Amino acid sequence: MFITLEGIEGCGKTTQVERLARFLEERRVPHVVTREPGGTRLGGYIRRMLLDRDHGEMEGLTELLLYAADRAQHVAEVIQPALASGRWVVCDRFADATTAYQGYGRGQNLDLVHRLNLVATQGVWPDLTLLLDCSVEVGLDRAQRRILAGASPEREDRFERQVQEFHLRVREGYLRLAEQDAVRIKVLDATLDPDQVHEEILSLLEPSIERWTNGTDRSGGVVWQKGSG
Ligand SMILES: Nc1ncnc2c1ncn2[C@@H]1O[C@H](COP(=O)(O)OP(=O)(O)O)[C@@H](O)[C@H]1O
Ligand SMILES: [Mg+2]
Repeated sequence: MFITLEGIEGCGKTTQVERLARFLEERRVPHVVTREPGGTRLGGYIRRMLLDRDHGEMEGLTELLLYAADRAQHVAEVIQPALASGRWVVCDRFADATTAYQGYGRGQNLDLVHRLNLVATQGVWPDLTLLLDCSVEVGLDRAQRRILAGASPEREDRFERQVQEFHLRVREGYLRLAEQDAVRIKVLDATLDPDQVHEEILSLLEPSIERWTNGTDRSGGVVWQKGSG
């Protein structure tokens, strides 16, 4: 089972990833928790390149390709092997983030973004994507508080300093994706309190956990044939 969490800055992805991981721990579901960018050792370098505030000259295409490179390494080194060994994978941002941020947010060609996503993932695609949706005001306000609360300075990345319109486009992009793929992408109200959001996530996951516990489904990750979709 391959689960990704998506949404704008401050919507609560990392909070919910941590809670979900604790839950899977309790249920003794073998799992891997990871994130993009930076889910591998090499990806750590790419993450720093992407989020460094001094890299303002970075071209949109460069940024897009760096995300694709990070993802290629991440899928090959972490996600695919974990799924192949029957573990669940919970990933804080994945390919949809590139569509939302680089595609809808920065205006990179959506078809190019889609093709790069297919190449980088080698067809390893989430079974379930949890889109934590809230307004840009709520998200950025939370992200700002998180920074003031003394979270690691790296978290105040280039994106959190972008103009509101950018984040509005990203949010709309995510919602558009959810409309196009309503089976995989579930939109959750991220303005609820963290416990409620967690409960919503668990109710969506309950059937999969049942299947897993009963041993009827130990597979994970939808592997698309190359060239499909
Ligand atoms: N549902 C929620 N309601 C209120 N505050 C939240 C909620 N979820 C997370 N937070 C807080 O908002 C801030 C951003 O949450 P975080 O999980 O880091 O978001 P993201 O990873 O999506 O950027 C954190 O300080 C977190 O404690
Ligand atoms: Mg986060």
